[in-house]
Amino acid sequence: MTTSIQLTGVTKNFTLRYHRTFKEITVAMARGHKTSDTFRAVDDVSFTVEQGESIGLMGLNGSGKSTLLKMISGVMRPDAGEVLVRGRIAGLIATGAGFHPQLTGRENLILNAAILGMSERETMRKFDEIVEFAGLGKKLDTEVGHYSSGQKARLGFAVAIHVDSDIFLADEALAVGDRPFRRKCLEKMQEVRDGGRTLFYVSHSTGSVRKMCDRVVVLEEGRVGFDGDVKAGIKYLQYDDDLPTDEDEEMAADI
Ligand SMILES: Nc1ncnc2c1ncn2[C@@H]1O[C@H](COP(=O)(O)OP(=O)(O)OP(=O)(O)O)[C@@H](O)[C@H]1O
Ligand SMILES: [Mg+2]
Repeated sequence: MTTSIQLTGVTKNFTLRYHRTFKEITVAMARGHKTSDTFRAVDDVSFTVEQGESIGLMGLNGSGKSTLLKMISGVMRPDAGEVLVRGRIAGLIATGAGFHPQLTGRENLILNAAILGMSERETMRKFDEIVEFAGLGKKLDTEVGHYSSGQKARLGFAVAIHVDSDIFLADEALAVGDRPFRRKCLEKMQEVRDGGRTLFYVSHSTGSVRKMCDRVVVLEEGRVGFDGDVKAGIKYLQYDDDLPTDEDEEMAADI
């Protein structure tokens, strides 16, 4: 098997600033208060992903999932440790990221595809398919600034999923989509996974992770709390509560 992603001791610190204005900082310093702190969002994370594996990255809000994904995609650099990635990466890190609000959906589609590394020929070949997947109808020719969050997510996901890549990263992709669109995305992601691409899927929904992934990594305050089998990972996440929530059941029924 080929290694797809290798993380070794990956660490990311952020500076938290407690004051915004010069006056506030001066007053705080005069009083001997702290004006900033360092916060470790990702703490010494190491694991290896083989090509074709499908990972569900889970954990509470603020546990460092998006930060880790940003480092894998190369948007952010770790302060310590190493991120090694083999092949081309595509995905949706944040909904609406990279869109220009004054351009239309159609124009943004072309721009976004170019940013994600698609050639003009590739974009033109897949254009109709992407438009069809996004399902925005006449809205496609209106400016993206007036799109709803779900409409932005639709456009972003539609482009990202059609990029030929070795690794697909999905964060927040399904969070704002409606039910039919979520189902469509999950089906498409299953296709991506079955095609041998590495899938890195951030989700709070145990139902969809159970269907989509063959391994779960749980982050806890920036550290790997669990890494292994999906069933055991979900059990680990739920701590004392073994019963899935209604929402999870709903999500599982979706696919
Ligand atoms: N640019 C930044 N500057 C300062 N702190 C940040 C920055 N980005 C993230 N953080 C902090 O790092 C921590 C991890 O954030 P991250 O977005 O990775 O969490 P997450 O696991 O994706 O959470 P969620 O489930 O809510 O999406 C949070 O406490 C967040 O406030
Ligand atoms: Mg996040």
